[in-house]
Amino acid sequence: MDRVLLIISGGIAAYKSLELIRLFKKMGTQIKCVATQSALTFITPASVEYLSGNSLRTSLEDRDQEMQMGHIELARWPDVVIVAPATANIISCVANGLAMDLAQTILMATTQQIVFVPSMNVRMWENKLFQKNIEVLKKSGSRFLGPTEGEMACGEYGMGRMMAPQQIIKSLFQK
Ligand SMILES: Cc1cc2nc3c(=O)[nH]c(=O)nc-3n(C[C@H](O)[C@H](O)[C@H](O)COP(=O)(O)O)c2cc1C
Repeated sequence: MDRVLLIISGGIAAYKSLELIRLFKKMGTQIKCVATQSALTFITPASVEYLSGNSLRTSLEDRDQEMQMGHIELARWPDVVIVAPATANIISCVANGLAMDLAQTILMATTQQIVFVPSMNVRMWENKLFQKNIEVLKKSGSRFLGPTEGEMACGEYGMGRMMAPQQIIKSLFQK
């Protein structure tokens, strides 16, 4: 795994994605990052850029990057696309073929392996409509790591916690 594209969506666990970037860098992996607008509520572009060594893309409305069809280049570039944390929203949008922002457009355009690392409230995770979306994505070849069970930021307990960064790396190398 030489090139990883990390898509960070807008969940409370977005801070864990910073540690994930650090671990990939330590392993010598090239890592480029894309954040959704919601993710920018939880993390800053500066921390992502300093850790990854690459500029963070957040929008399709970037004429300099998109003059060369930057979103397609990003979709082609990695060996694997990891969405961590993956919100209920981004998972459901991709399962339904939506491409409403840069992150979703890349996920629609890539032919590389996609790995979702879900993170959300237990009721969202257990929602029947949402579980159908997960099945659709699994059937079309996407991989899911986690979630794990435990205490959540909202005070509830159950499935929905984002897998720990070390565990994500370990799981990626297990088929
Ligand atoms: C404080 C806060 C925490 C949130 N945490 C999560 C979360 O852990 N998982 C999730 O699926 N949505 C969470 N949301 C809701 C998402 O931010 C929201 O659905 C958003 O539209 C996701 O957009 P994105 O998928 O484009 O990043 C949270 C919202 C707020 C305000």
